[in-house]
This record gives sequence, structure tokens and C-alpha cells, in this order.
Amino acid sequence: MHVDVLLGLQWGDEGKGKIVDYLADRYDLVCRFQGGPNAGHTLEIGDTKTVLHTIPSGIFRTDIVNMIGNGVVIDPITLCKEIAGLEDLKVPVTDRLVVARRAHLILPTHRLLDAASEAAKGKMKIGSTLRGIGPTYMDKTGRNGLRMGDIMRPDFMDRYRALKDKHLGLLKLYPEFEFDIRAEEEDWFASVETLRGLEMVDGEYYVNQAIDSGKRVLAEGAQGSMLDIDFGTYPYVTSSNTISSGVCNGLGVAPGRIGRVIGITKAYCTRVGSGPFPTELHDADGERLRKLGHEFGATTGRPRRCGWIDIPQVRYSIMLNGVTDIALTKIDVLTSFDEVGMGVAYDINGHRTTRLPYDLEDAAIKPVYERVAGWQEDISRVDVYDALPQTTRDYIERLETAFKRPISYVSTGPQREALLTRDAFIEA
Ligand code: GDP
Ligand code: IMO
Ligand code: MG
Repeated sequence: MHVDVLLGLQWGDEGKGKIVDYLADRYDLVCRFQGGPNAGHTLEIGDTKTVLHTIPSGIFRTDIVNMIGNGVVIDPITLCKEIAGLEDLKVPVTDRLVVARRAHLILPTHRLLDAASEAAKGKMKIGSTLRGIGPTYMDKTGRNGLRMGDIMRPDFMDRYRALKDKHLGLLKLYPEFEFDIRAEEEDWFASVETLRGLEMVDGEYYVNQAIDSGKRVLAEGAQGSMLDIDFGTYPYVTSSNTISSGVCNGLGVAPGRIGRVIGITKAYCTRVGSGPFPTELHDADGERLRKLGHEFGATTGRPRRCGWIDIPQVRYSIMLNGVTDIALTKIDVLTSFDEVGMGVAYDINGHRTTRLPYDLEDAAIKPVYERVAGWQEDISRVDVYDALPQTTRDYIERLETAFKRPISYVSTGPQREALLTRDAFIEA
């Protein structure tokens, strides 16, 4: 048995939550392996819409365990709010959730450092979600961090104080800004108390034993490949490895245990926050994509930047992740466009390339577009792939040829059921 992976091929928000929720009933264990509450994964089941930040998207399925892996950074306050929200919906969260002891903790002062660092960057700001992600991973690699397992140690308070004092010292390096650390801390410690009641596991043993005993495991990515700390549009990235290699570090599984890697991409492209985005549209089409796709951040509510799909960019992500097949989402959003654009190459000072340049921010990079006919028919209720309009299928199959990977899933709406499957072996 292997660990299958589902992860984003663009700049995040590709619809990972929806697809993981759909696929989860074929698995026994669903694990988040990186990122933290910068993620916002939306699930629409019946009339209920839920946005998950730290909890894996298998949580609504019965008989499944969800693990927050060691590669994740946890904000106790956000996690407790998520648990409470799910309990209000009568989801027995604590029966279905385990947390790796090695996962690092986001402290209130990590969030302050995030805010101070972003403010100091001025125009160069990353557009961080301000959830304390960067500073927490910095403390992890700097070997200063606090981990979930530490909350059970008798000297937890001393460790907390030492790290907090370090942070207060660092904050003095930034221009002064007002903050009320007391109120935050009260909330944080109350939440830590609640987390003590969760089942904590040695994640690496937990997941490997699950695989050895024939259990099916799905790893759920957060963010997207272009936000990867090594291969994304640095420095406009997040602070973790969002690509499939992150599964090995973030869960403790060996590379040979990775099975299918399902890469997810929108039928167009979005980005939230700063940084390069070659196929971004600053015109009426971009505005229309934002409106029809409801492109506003699930975590911060910020409007997402919108543009056509960028084939060289997606192919780069396919290469980095070892993608075996693709889930294409939000195809319904393209309905009503006369023509749909696709970035097929970059023109750099008259030189045409399909390789992602080192500096994607270079103003000389101009995307080369191909346009195909759009479709006017409402496709949101179509329930088999072959019933899609011919022009829709042409577009999908054009992408499939370019990606050189099967597009196994086509998502036609936010709801769990709005998904067309194309590969018989997947259903077996
Ligand atoms: P994630 O971070 O990758 O899980 O994605 P988000 O939840 O941040 O953003 C995706 C948004 O698109 C959510 O509001 C989803 O409900 C919605 N969504 C997912 N798939 C589809 C689809 O096929 N069509 C439409 N119209 N919306 C979708
Ligand atoms: P999901 O899992 C989209 C972006 C932020 C910012 C940059 C760094 O929902 O797809 P950070 O808070 O990590 O320091 O922000 O990364 N970003 C995301 N964009 N979806 C996400 O997650 C994101 N998580 C972070 O907007 O540009
Ligand atoms: Mg999201």
C-alpha cells in the first residue's frame, strides 16, 4: 500500500478541500503534511459550507481518521475554533482526529512578528495571511520552536516564556506598533488546555503502521506548488515545501511509499497576495473570472487576482511533483465566455520558451496565448463527462494533451457531488 497525494499545482485555492472531501471515503487515513492556518479549504456538503484551516478535509466522512502531520504548524486558537465549529455541526471531531507530537506550535508572538515583518517590507510585502506561518517555520529550522508534544511537559510554561521573550526582543527591531499580548495569551492558553484532550501520536509510526496494515492513506496538500519555498516564485512564497517531496518530511514516509500524485488545477488561474503572475488579466475578463468564480480568499477574504491558465507553469508543477493524474476544477466558471485563453509559452525579448524563467517577475516576460471557442450551456448539472458540450470537452482535452497526464476528475461546481470522473480504474 502507498500514500496517495493530492496537491495544488498553481498558487493555492485550486479546490483541494472539495476534492479531498470527495475522495476521502476511499481512504482510511487523510493527513495534512505542511502549512498551517494560512490554508482555507472549502467544503460544500448539502446546504452547509465549511472552511477548514488546519483539520484535514476528510473530517466529514465516517470511519476515517484525520491526522495533522508533523510538518504542519498549529495555532491552538484556530484549531480550537475549528473543532468547536465542527462540533456545532455534530461532527464528532475528536473521535476522528489525531495530531502528530512533532508538529510545531504558532505562538501569539509569531503572529506579531509576521505582522511586523510584513509592515517593514512596505511595497515588497509578500501579502502573507499574517497567521504567523513564516516566523514559526523560522523557529523550527532555527531549532527554537515549541512542538505539540511539549504541551505535556512539566516545564512547558518555562519553554513558552523563553521563546516569547526572544520574540519580544526581536519585535524591538521593528518600528513600534501597539499590541495587547495579554488578551491573546489568555485565549492561547485556554486553547492549549483543550488541545491536551486530543489524541496525540508519533505520526511517523502511525502512518507507516497504517500503510503496513493495508490501510489506504491520502496526503492533503495546502497552498500550491508555485508557493513552495524552494521552487515557487521566491520570495513571494510560503515557508514550507508544498510539493510532493514535502509529504516525506511532513509525515515521515519514505519516497518509495508515495503512490498516485493527483495534481489539482483550476481551468484558469488565480493568485492571492503579491508576486509574479504572468497570465494575470487586468481587464474585463479578469474581473469577470473573479465575479463568476467568487474569487475571494477563504482565509482572509481578499480578492484573488485572476487570469487564464498558464500551461508552462502547470507543466513545471507536474514535473516537480511527479503528478500521475489531474483534477481540473471550476470549469463551470468559464461558461459564457466567447473565447477562453491559455498561456502556452513565454516570449522574452523575442525569444520563445516553455521553461519557467528564474525570475518570473521580469517585466520582459510576455505570455503567448492561444484562444479556443467558449461555450454558453449551463454545465453545472451535467452528470457524465460525455454529456458536456463538445467545446468544453475540446478545451479539457486540449489541456490534457498539453499536460501529458490524464485529467481524471472534472469539477463543475463547489458542491461535493459536482464532479465528473473520467477514469474507470479510479472508481474501482
Ligand atoms: P482550496 O484552498 O484549494 O481548498 O480552495 P478554496 O476553498 O480556497 O477555494 C476554492 C473555491 O472554489 C471554494 O469556494 C470552493 O467552494 C469553490 N469550488 C471548488 N470547486 C469548484 C468548482 O468546480 N466550481 C466552482 N464554481 N467552485 C468550486
Ligand atoms: P490554500 O491551502 C492561496 C499565500 C499568501 C501569500 C503567501 C505567503 O487555501 O490553497 P503565508 O501566510 O504563508 O506567509 O503567505 O502565500 N498563501 C496562499 N494563497 N491559498 C493558500 O492556501 C495560501 N496560503 C498562503 O497569500 O501570498
Ligand atoms: Mg484556499
